[in-house]
Amino acid sequence: MFDELYRRLQPPSAYKRSDTKFWDDEHISAQMLKAHLDPASEGASRPFDFIERSAKWISAVLPPAKYPYLLDLGCGPGSYAEKFCRSGYRVTGIDLSSRSLSYAEESARRRGLAIRYCCGDYLTCSFPDRADVCTMIYCDYGALSPKERAVLLKKVHRTLRKGGKFLLDVFTDAYYRAFAEYKRWEMFENGGFWSDERHIALSAAYKYPDLLILEQTIVLTESGIKNHLIWNSCFTAGKLREEAEKAGFFCCGIWSDVAGGRFSGSSPTLAMILEKR
Ligand SMILES: C[S@@+](CC[C@H](N)C(=O)[O-])C[C@H]1O[C@@H](n2cnc3c(N)ncnc32)[C@H](O)[C@@H]1O
Repeated sequence: MFDELYRRLQPPSAYKRSDTKFWDDEHISAQMLKAHLDPASEGASRPFDFIERSAKWISAVLPPAKYPYLLDLGCGPGSYAEKFCRSGYRVTGIDLSSRSLSYAEESARRRGLAIRYCCGDYLTCSFPDRADVCTMIYCDYGALSPKERAVLLKKVHRTLRKGGKFLLDVFTDAYYRAFAEYKRWEMFENGGFWSDERHIALSAAYKYPDLLILEQTIVLTESGIKNHLIWNSCFTAGKLREEAEKAGFFCCGIWSDVAGGRFSGSSPTLAMILEKR
């Protein structure tokens, strides 16, 4: 036990994958769904008032009349998908979390919204034959390794028609600079976010070179050790543009967020609309 813990407490090599699930873990996915459905929480989605503004901005800049088929990658419980559907898009949502997707399907059925949901990993599952616009919202792109990002861009490029758009957001170099590394531990007598058992959470955050951040949580329970690794690549506008251009996209615009805020060098996030050439 000591040796294993000691080994896991060393910062891993960049982008090393967890041996645990996060989004589709039985217990954690329930906590994340709760966060998604909390109007003020920023834990899994942005607050509801932001999502409202954001969905309106997206349908104004990429109107459904011109871009009817929309593919929402990492759609969660459908917070955006439902708004997109109501504004007139034909929506497909893909998400890894079976808990969030079941919620999304049930919610769409109850509200009579014809949204197509697919439960799967957007790096490996098949995409629809046609999309006019793809969205990937709340900085999921930066959670991927450079190889995974290349795979994702290729898949999005393939599914979009010529002139189709990809809207995504990422954390910026300003976010990276302001981010403070930490190390802390907490005890949960009656379960908590990471486990429903009594547990200890050892958390640390490290800044790696090349604008990469790791947030690590080691969870100790009577049944064993789990090591959760959450990576976040941050981007300058130039770095994101360069990556996208390599995959055959052209940058049409940069904003501070997916609600059309004005971008400046101190914005913690940036949103980009990319066009398939
Ligand atoms: C930060 S949440 C954002 C959800 C939604 N876009 C929003 O803004 O409300 C990330 C979502 O992506 C999903 N996700 C993460 N990795 C994924 C993958 N490889 N394939 C499909 N979905 C994934 C998670 O289950 C989660 O619902």
